[in-house]
Amino acid sequence: MAKVAIVELNRNCANTVEEIVKMERKIFPKHESLASFFHDELRKKNSGLLYIHVNGVIAGYVMYSWPSSLYGSITKLAVKEQWRGQGHGEALLKAGIEKCRTRKVSRIMLHVDPLRTPAVNLYKKHGFQIDTLVEGYYSSDRDAYRMYLDFDSS
Ligand SMILES: CC(C)(COP(=O)(O)OP(=O)(O)OC[C@H]1O[C@@H](n2cnc3c(N)ncnc32)[C@H](O)[C@@H]1OP(=O)(O)O)[C@@H](O)C(=O)NCCC(=O)NCCS
Repeated sequence: MAKVAIVELNRNCANTVEEIVKMERKIFPKHESLASFFHDELRKKNSGLLYIHVNGVIAGYVMYSWPSSLYGSITKLAVKEQWRGQGHGEALLKAGIEKCRTRKVSRIMLHVDPLRTPAVNLYKKHGFQIDTLVEGYYSSDRDAYRMYLDFDSS
């Protein structure tokens, strides 16, 4: 059975950061990629990154932030192609949601290209709803759904 662990990124671990930047470059087209800003993103105080280790290999990651006390944000979620369809994306999303939850935000927001069906399905499966379509969000011809998940305040 695969040995799986979700690990919080140690920002000082340059090799791990570089490996994740490489994945970001490979998985996302330039207009959607955070690769050039990765180090800036990681320096932000109110943000974090979790990655998933499968048999000692980094198989995916989730970035999250809490820009204000009002809401959190899932800024990135990705699993390497050869590790997809095995529940790792779902495990990462759940862990990212829990991280935001501990910040006591009442809502989590995210943007996703509507053409990314696996991601849209995964977000819907975890209760995210489509708020609106933001035209030209990624580039002149690439839109995004803005999606949100509200936590029960009771
Ligand atoms: C989105 C992504 C992270 C999903 O990771 P994954 O490990 O393959 O997903 P899981 O195996 O955990 O699947 C969980 C759920 O996602 C959805 N899903 C995953 N793959 C899917 C596919 N090929 N088609 C439709 N839905 C899919 C399903 O709802 C699935 O739940 P189910 O198994 O009960 O049907 C992965 O496809 C990916 O990295 N895509 C490229 C990057 C991306 O689009 N990121 C999101 C935008 S930032």
